[in-house]
Amino acid sequence: MSSAASFAASQPEGQAPAGEALSSISDARRAAFIGAFAAVRTETERRAAPLSAEDQVVQSMPDASPIKWHRAHTTWFFEQFLLVPHAAGYRVFDERLAFLFNSYYVSAGPRHARPKRGLVTRPDAAEVAAYRRHVDAAVRDLILRVEDAALDEVLTIVEIGLHHEQQHQELMLTDILHAFAQNPVLPAYDAAWRLPPVAAGTADFLALQEAIHSIGNDGAGFRFDNEGPLHRELVGPVRIARHLVSNAEWLTFIADGGYATPTLWLSDGWATVEAEGWEAPGYWRRSDGQWAAFTLGGLRPIDPAAPVCHVSYYEADAFARWSGRHLPTEAEWEVAASGNELCGSHGVVWQWTRSAYAAYPGYRAGPGALGEYNGKFMVNQMVLRGSSLATPQGHSRNSYRNFFPPSARWQFSGLRLAEY
Ligand SMILES: [Fe+2]
Repeated sequence: MSSAASFAASQPEGQAPAGEALSSISDARRAAFIGAFAAVRTETERRAAPLSAEDQVVQSMPDASPIKWHRAHTTWFFEQFLLVPHAAGYRVFDERLAFLFNSYYVSAGPRHARPKRGLVTRPDAAEVAAYRRHVDAAVRDLILRVEDAALDEVLTIVEIGLHHEQQHQELMLTDILHAFAQNPVLPAYDAAWRLPPVAAGTADFLALQEAIHSIGNDGAGFRFDNEGPLHRELVGPVRIARHLVSNAEWLTFIADGGYATPTLWLSDGWATVEAEGWEAPGYWRRSDGQWAAFTLGGLRPIDPAAPVCHVSYYEADAFARWSGRHLPTEAEWEVAASGNELCGSHGVVWQWTRSAYAAYPGYRAGPGALGEYNGKFMVNQMVLRGSSLATPQGHSRNSYRNFFPPSARWQFSGLRLAEY
């Protein structure tokens, strides 16, 4: 699929042609954005396609949203932030939907309670499909017809809308996996699903010498605001594991009493272990003395060589302590990943870092509702780096900062270690 990210790189910069040249460049940009828009919107529907209308309405916990909600919310995002302010004469599909499908944008008005998203049976899946078609047509029309003077502003919002929708594409898979895990018959999202191949773990480490590095992203391509400003940080000396922590290592941690040894855990982590009854990663089930894991392909035996997945920050931190090592900081991860010498840095599991999610030096959230996108969440969460098997193609960057609360483990989250 051509992505919005690859699309961003195709935007001409640093030139000021006039007349016909300007028009042809603007035509090419419009065509490219229309293509990227169609590709991303189609990918959302492709991910929803294996799911019935009943599957799409379930909300299995407050943190997870129904698939139908993801399809509608990503559509509302374009309607609210692009079409209403920028498409003259745009007819809102249904005035009632803004309340239902606004997620957390206080500046955009009141909204439905997040934990009650699964109670919204109407609009039904077919009506949400019609909502998507209505907005798709209006966005294509706007990109095609907006005057050149307003094109930059329009395409900037289209681009953030596409990256936003790609984030929700990942959540569609994590959320349906959580929902299906509650079902005693353990349905498979895709019976043919396989973990992406990744090299088996070794004890090999990548050594980073002490140096001052530029961290973050002020580049020309798309990045979220939380990836900047670019700033300098002292990194190293440190050794970063080239490989992700494997299931085999995690089985050793379990066998050594990892989940029963309070001294390995942060206080909040141990409280969570006790409250939740954790004795293994998320979705692991023991039967006849053997561990299996519920996956997008259904219940599968644990593959010892595969990276461990669905662990929380608390578990990653306890494992690192048990192993006599550490989690890397996000800056250490970014420097190590920049040399392309890490196995599975992208596309398998997100990797917890020990960095709290906070603003980079000089960061300010932008004005208006879109300024609520990242900045207001910069407290009480930890940063994950890389990307996962559920991350859409074209949505990964070494500077990308994912963030979740330390107890979260329904994401495709694992870890790699650091030592000093
Ligand atoms: Fe969203």
